[in-house]
This record gives sequence, structure tokens and C-alpha cells, in this order.
Amino acid sequence: MRGSFLWVALCVGAAGALAMLVLYDREISPAFSQEALRPANSFARITDVRTRSIALFVEAGKVLQHPRCVNCHPSTERPRQTDSRRLHLPLVVRGADGHGAPGMRCTTCHHSDNFDSAGIPGNEHWGLAPQSMAWEGRSLGQICEQLKDPARTGNRDLAAILKHVVTDSLVLWAWSPGRGRNPAPGTNAQFGELLRGWAESGAHCPTP
Ligand code: HEC
Ligand code: HEC
Repeated sequence: MRGSFLWVALCVGAAGALAMLVLYDREISPAFSQEALRPANSFARITDVRTRSIALFVEAGKVLQHPRCVNCHPSTERPRQTDSRRLHLPLVVRGADGHGAPGMRCTTCHHSDNFDSAGIPGNEHWGLAPQSMAWEGRSLGQICEQLKDPARTGNRDLAAILKHVVTDSLVLWAWSPGRGRNPAPGTNAQFGELLRGWAESGAHCPTP
């Protein structure tokens, strides 16, 4: 009797400490309230085609450089978490296939959908983008050049990139990231149109 009471007390205490830790973290993370995106057609009045192309890419960059995307496109072996992009806790690594080391697979915690009551995001393909697709710490100009280089995009040409950004379920997740997480700016459709406008105007890049 006495033993089980102690256990209950211990568990309640541990759960409380965890909850406080989570709340504390939410509080110190800077809030990125959801930003809007300028619609692609509002760039039509820029007559110089190169200037227009770059302006469209810079607008799309609000999404590309948002924590919802960059946390999964890190330049190290470790994912990042939250809007403050802190290193993932517990320590997990990309692993050979992007889904973690053998003893600590992403699926241990990340399931096929967001798990809101525990605050864990989810998706059937949850995993890190390969090293060649790292965006963390890169300038927008560098990300732009990288997106045009099939050697670094998993052999995708621009048409395939345009398709990926409006159909891939990990990309779409960034607009439905689960409770307590800010979505990427604008809508996925607006983002797709900005990149399409960029490609159609010559896919020019900002200076790196
Ligand atoms: C032991 C459990 C656990 C494992 C294993 C795990 N994660 Fe997580 N992960 C979490 C939790 C919990 C959160 C939510 C943290 C928060 O938002 O405060 C999270 C959040 C994330 C986020 C942040 C999403 C965002 O933008 O807010 C990314 C990215 C991520 N995990 C990637 C991975 C990858 C990739 C793997 C496998 C290599 C992995 N995780 C393995 C528990 C885990
Ligand atoms: C849960 C992790 C995760 C999130 C979140 C995520 N990605 Fe990715 N991304 C990946 C993985 C894994 C790949 C590699 C998939 C493949 O090659 O089939 C990838 C590949 C890509 C590619 C292919 C080409 C390249 O060079 O990067 C693009 C484009 C891309 N992601 C865009 C985005 C955008 C835009 C967002 C945010 C709106 C985003 N991703 C969010 C994991 C993620």
C-alpha cells in the first residue's frame, strides 16, 4: 500500500517537472506569429525580368528559411527543434538513411501524424533531408543556387522541384505542424506560385 502510494507520488512529481520544462521552453522561444506572403501576381509590375525573378525568390525565401523547413534541412548530423532552432533533444542523428541511428530511429517518437497531446510532430516519412540538401546557415543566394543543381537535389530538375514543393507530405506538414508550433508563412499554394513565377522568369538568384 505504502509502496504504491510512493510510486504514484513519484510519477506525479516527474510529470509535473516535465510539464514545467515544456512550458518554460515554449515561453523562451521567440514567437514567430504567422507571416503573410505577397501573392506572385503582385510582382508583375516589376518590368526588369531579372529583378522580378530575384524578388519572387526572396519572397519564397520567407518559407525556405523558416524554422519549419530548416529544422529538417540542417547542415550538421542533428535536427533542430522549435522556432528558436535549438539542437534536437534528446540527441539524435541523421543516420545512414536519414531516419536515425539503428538504436534511435525517428519513428521511436515521431509517428504517422502529429501527436498533439504530447507535442510531437509526425508524418509517415519523418526524417532528415540529406546533407547535400542542407539549408541551415546558408544564405538565400546559396540555397537558390543549390536548388538549381541536380547533383545536390537528388537529381531533381526545376520542374521536379516545383512539383515537390506543392505535393510532398513533409513540405505540406509545415503548414499543419500541430498544436503549439507556428506554421510556415502564407499558404502552400502561394509558396508554390512564387517559385513557379521565379522559374518562369529565368530562375535568377540573389547574390550569395
Ligand atoms: C526520443 C524521442 C525522439 C526521437 C527518437 C526523435 N525525436 Fe524529433 N522530436 C521529439 C519531440 C518530443 C519533439 C518536439 C519538441 C518541441 O517542439 O518542443 C521533436 C521535434 C522534432 C523536430 C522539430 C520540428 C519543428 O520544426 O518544430 C524535428 C525536425 C525532429 N524532431 C526531427 C527528428 C528526426 C529527423 C529524428 C530521427 C533522426 C527524430 N526527430 C527523433 C522527440 C524525438
Ligand atoms: C520532417 C522533415 C522535413 C521537413 C519539415 C521539410 N523537409 Fe524538405 N526534405 C526532407 C527530406 C527527407 C528530403 C529528401 C527527400 C527525397 O529526396 O526524396 C527533403 C527534400 C526537399 C527538397 C528537395 C530538393 C532539395 O535540394 O532540397 C525540397 C525542395 C524541400 N525538401 C523543400 C522543403 C520545404 C520548402 C520545407 C518547408 C516548407 C521542407 N522541405 C520541410 C525533409 C523535410
